[in-house]
Amino acid sequence: MTIRLGDTAPDFTAATTDGTISFHEWLGDSWGVLFSHPKDYTPVCTTELGYTARLKPEFDKRNVKVIGLSVDPLDSHHGWAKDIEETQGTALNFPVIADEDRTVSDLYDMIHPNADDTFTVRSVFVIGPDKKIKLTITYPASTGRNFDEILRVIDSLQLTAEHSLATPVNWKDGDDCIIVPTLSDEEATAKFPAGFKKVKPYLRITPQPGKKSDSTSA
Ligand code: BEZ
Repeated sequence: MTIRLGDTAPDFTAATTDGTISFHEWLGDSWGVLFSHPKDYTPVCTTELGYTARLKPEFDKRNVKVIGLSVDPLDSHHGWAKDIEETQGTALNFPVIADEDRTVSDLYDMIHPNADDTFTVRSVFVIGPDKKIKLTITYPASTGRNFDEILRVIDSLQLTAEHSLATPVNWKDGDDCIIVPTLSDEEATAKFPAGFKKVKPYLRITPQPGKKSDSTSA
């Protein structure tokens, strides 16, 4: 099944390292990151899961729940978790799905047979509190993902959801933002007390709310 932006994230019930999880119920009102890795006890995956565990305070700050997945069984996940803690310096602190029968992998199209017909590729899905898919990323098995970039995209998505702001090329937290075109100048004036710079009628720049460059922040 192909998953596209704006689709409802398929629901499922699965065995995980934290017990059986019903996905939508487990997400509750949180944002979610569902990501797959090809295989337990492999080097790139070990670094990815360790780093993601280290980022837990950052995900918590943004009200994001993270869940991993591979087609390996639970006992393999539990054994490998000890290696992750030993080598990456952080214990696993999020559930990892044991998708032995590929139910979730198939629902989310995580197995790309022309790359590998057995193992999941490195898929990432960011899911909003409305259970809609906000971001999809697919990386090959040999390339570790940049989880700082995933946080950056979540920051941008949350600015859109909460403030009707978009983010320009190479935006970083604290940089100026772009007012979405659907907002009129009058609405923008009311919404952004710091004001905005109208470079073009369609390109209006305003400081990121709550950051130092926003003179209306405390
Ligand atoms: C890894 O995680 O290191 C890996 C997994 C599958 C293929 C290549 C590398």
